[in-house]
Amino acid sequence: MTPAATARAHTNIALVKYWGKADTTQMLPQTSSLSLTLDQFYTDTTVQFDSALTADEVTLNDDRLSPQASGKVQRFLDLVRPDGQFARVQSTNHVPTAAGLASSASAFAALAGAASRAAGLDLTRTELSRLARHGSGSATRSIFGGFAEWTAGTDDQSSVAHPIDETVDWPIAVVALVLNAHQKKVSSRQGMQSSVDTSPFYPAWKDVVAHDLAAIRPAIATHDFQQMGEILESNAMRMHALTLSANPPFTYFNGDSLVAMQAVQDLRDAGTACYYTLDAGPNVKLFCQTKDLPKITQTMADLFGSEHVIVAHPGPGIQFLSSPAKF
Ligand code: DP6
Repeated sequence: MTPAATARAHTNIALVKYWGKADTTQMLPQTSSLSLTLDQFYTDTTVQFDSALTADEVTLNDDRLSPQASGKVQRFLDLVRPDGQFARVQSTNHVPTAAGLASSASAFAALAGAASRAAGLDLTRTELSRLARHGSGSATRSIFGGFAEWTAGTDDQSSVAHPIDETVDWPIAVVALVLNAHQKKVSSRQGMQSSVDTSPFYPAWKDVVAHDLAAIRPAIATHDFQQMGEILESNAMRMHALTLSANPPFTYFNGDSLVAMQAVQDLRDAGTACYYTLDAGPNVKLFCQTKDLPKITQTMADLFGSEHVIVAHPGPGIQFLSSPAKF
């Protein structure tokens, strides 16, 4: 039996989105992407390999997963198993409410950390980022804190993230609106593949991302909030245009998403700088400056109820914790 290892990784929210794979086997993306790691939502995962086990035992939030449900985890463990040993995996998502904000990014970043340590490997953060990518693309970026960019690369070696600004000495916040906590109908994996395969706008998306990355890097470096906000909002909408233009068309928006987007525009028209983004689900995330938090959270609480409004700030990269005494 190997010693148990425990890692904590936080979720990230992309400002310039990853939406499409160039190589589904190696998990290479079509484009680079850029994100902010958040402090509020994270996953703690403990892994221990044991030669006495005859299969992996995966527990998520105290529920033992069926072999079918843990398929992605088993395939991920195959990348690091010492002597083909099976593992006990215990993972807990820390999300303020049952919010549907837990993501594969924090899950596979934490699993990459815990599984590699439990296997006796002492990987650099770049190596962890590469490993995490094989579990889920967005996990590539969650190894790092603050702003991180995942370089698309051309092969396994070159497709990794790097930190742009890990400490983020800039008073900004992300307000997450929990508009629907249920499992999404079209997974991001299916949704992006369908967009690559069937949206006539997909070639234009690659140009959009190149342009947005070139423009957002200096906006972040100079703390130009308006410039950063305009880019992240338009990038999100152009990503979602790929779902609407796919065949068959689909969307992650629900009615409340549209209400929230309109409310952000109204706040902006009234002089409060804030910008929205959405991922593969209806929950809206607003970027704002901390000085505007009282006004923004009040506006959103009036619309959706305060229990649906969660404030997050820039968060840290992967951390290794001492493993629970009983595992
Ligand atoms: C909309 O990382 O969940 O959040 O690589 O197939 O696991 P897989 O997809 P995933 O996709 C994330 C899509 C996104 C945009 C982003 O995080 O960049």
